[in-house]
Amino acid sequence: MNIKKTLTILGGAVAMAFAAQVWALPTVKILATGGTIAGASASKTDVTGYKAGSLGIQTLIDAVPQMKDYAEVSGEQVVNISSNNVDTKILLTLANRVNELLADPKVDGVVITHGTDSIEETAFFLNLTVKSDKPVVMVGAMRPATAISADGPMNLLEAVQAAASPKMKGAGVTIVMNDRICAARETTKFHTSNVDTFRSPEYGFLGVMSEGEPVLYRLSTRRHTTKSEFDVKGLTTLPRVDVVFALPGGDAKLAEAAVAAGAKGIVSASMGNGSIPQGHKDFYVPLMKKGFPVVLSNRVPTGDCVLSKDYLEKGYIAAGNLSPQKSRILLQLALTKTSDPKEIARIFSEY
Ligand code: SIN
Repeated sequence: MNIKKTLTILGGAVAMAFAAQVWALPTVKILATGGTIAGASASKTDVTGYKAGSLGIQTLIDAVPQMKDYAEVSGEQVVNISSNNVDTKILLTLANRVNELLADPKVDGVVITHGTDSIEETAFFLNLTVKSDKPVVMVGAMRPATAISADGPMNLLEAVQAAASPKMKGAGVTIVMNDRICAARETTKFHTSNVDTFRSPEYGFLGVMSEGEPVLYRLSTRRHTTKSEFDVKGLTTLPRVDVVFALPGGDAKLAEAAVAAGAKGIVSASMGNGSIPQGHKDFYVPLMKKGFPVVLSNRVPTGDCVLSKDYLEKGYIAAGNLSPQKSRILLQLALTKTSDPKEIARIFSEY
């Protein structure tokens, strides 16, 4: 073979390798946990009597072949359950697996299918424990996969499109459903059955999915992912934290039971702006004097829990605008680092 011919062949091979690199689709891994998106019923019109977590991840992937136009997609079944049973062990498994996957330079993003009932808690937990700025997108559905007008397939497609997009880098963990891109920290389930269930009251969505592309309008400024101090690698459990609902005139029996059950901290779902009945105060104040953390969050859906000097001096910790269920997640993680109430208050002001 003469030198000219050799160079032509070599040049062609280099050009092809370059083109393959440029045109290669991003790699997105889907971790499946169950929920209504994997729910099935005997009837196409049954949208309540179905079994969540019935279909496996490959069935969900096969139902949306259009995903292959946006990413190299493959799935992994972590569990297949209703999200009301997503416990600490599953949260830790998810965080560790997402961290392992995203440490691989060949993986561009992760999608997690999940029941909508507790998706906001898992999303917030991962937002605080994932150590990567690559996209992590959580997705669910309000109608089972077998229903007429099931919302799961479109939601899954949009979640993969978002996870495949470099525009989502640094956005933290998001929930993509019903064309909306929602921040893990500020998003909550707002309707028991409507497909348009997720809301970010006060702060709004991060953006929308439009024509297969994420369009972002804002980002959350609170610490998350690469800026988070929490590391769950090697942990097998998290400290117990219970949420105690504040009712007018209520006694402290439930709070007492929480401590007796081994709670290392309590989140109060308080009335108004941190107001709790005298019976709760009488129990919490001596407890806080011994260094036990009590976080005051709100049962009111919007607004910050800003505590007066008097409350702060007694040792209560303000949850800011975190809901009781999200305050519980943050307090559990805070307790993996410190039991000092001042440090915990600092954590609540930064995350
Ligand atoms: C669940 O959270 O697992 C059931 C409800 C849903 O996914 O919408």
